[in-house]
Amino acid sequence: MSQNEITIRKPFDPHAHLRSGQMLRKVLSYTSCIFPRAVVMGNLENDPVDNAKRLVAYRDEILKADPGFEPVMSVMLTRNTTVESLDACWKAGAKVLKFIPGGVSTGGAEGLDLPDLKFQTHLLKKARNLGMIFSCHFELASDENGAAIPKGRQEYWAIGYLKEIIRAVPGLKIVVEHVSSEEMIEAVLEAPLNVAATLTAHHAILTVDDVLDSRENIINGLNYCKPVAKDIRDRHAVRLAMTGGNPKFFFGSDSAPHPLDRKLGSEPAAGIFTAPVALPLLCKIFIEENGIGWLENFVSVYGPQFYGLPVSEGTLTLGEEPWEVPFDLDGVPIFMGGKKLQWKVM
Ligand code: NCD
Ligand code: ZN
Ligand code: ZN
Repeated sequence: MSQNEITIRKPFDPHAHLRSGQMLRKVLSYTSCIFPRAVVMGNLENDPVDNAKRLVAYRDEILKADPGFEPVMSVMLTRNTTVESLDACWKAGAKVLKFIPGGVSTGGAEGLDLPDLKFQTHLLKKARNLGMIFSCHFELASDENGAAIPKGRQEYWAIGYLKEIIRAVPGLKIVVEHVSSEEMIEAVLEAPLNVAATLTAHHAILTVDDVLDSRENIINGLNYCKPVAKDIRDRHAVRLAMTGGNPKFFFGSDSAPHPLDRKLGSEPAAGIFTAPVALPLLCKIFIEENGIGWLENFVSVYGPQFYGLPVSEGTLTLGEEPWEVPFDLDGVPIFMGGKKLQWKVM
């Protein structure tokens, strides 16, 4: 038994990519052994979960792989989404309407960008009226003239659209996913209480220098995710928001596995597999920031509160026991692979 131990109620992950088929069967237990409940994202390659039939089949696939896990289902907002399809998805159990604008990340909605949401307010109002949460990847890939926005500024340029949605659909519960910049943290702080944000462990660890060169070429695909990690000032803001005890900010892993060959080469896939290391990393961050007393609220309480879900009854213990992170899980690179971590899930 290790000398130092921290026991918390089991966490909730409102942002997990579990994929399907072989990949799902490979990675699922790394989420389910820590998070009894997680919001499962449906940005499946060439097969977005955007209708009730697909949603039910995907949930069945997950439950078949692990009957003890509770997937909180999300439905992707795509060009196929209608008021009627949202109704059907709600009846089939979808709790979350999820949007990744086209071209900003893995599995973005083709041909549907953040500015297009102003033509979709009827869908957002429908989601609100049903009681769905709108979980959104706020990044803008190109400006109104079609000019590309640098990766490091895409979240910043999305802030205006967040504000527009807040105004246009009052009362809609919005989760601003994987916030990575000081400016977006401020926007969430200023927003009404129906607006919250998830923070990842990796955005509290990486800076842009771990990912891109000064021309934004990817220098380490293993650290490449969207939004990209930013500078020290932003990372500091993420760490403060994370460890400060504000219920507007809670954990969302954005654990996003990709096979090794997709993470290397000149155009790596965006997304990093963090489920096996997230809790140990958070434990260290919270100790470093003198906020360890807030860890349980951040990972296990504030998220369920915002989603209207029960806090888990089981507990999880982290112990101080150095271990080396394996490089990969059967061909799927793990975040911090090869590095030593101080804390371990016991
Ligand atoms: C995610 C993925 O791989 O599905 N990638 C990422 O870089 N975060 C999608 C997403 O959350 O944007
Ligand atoms: Zn995203
Ligand atoms: Zn994601």
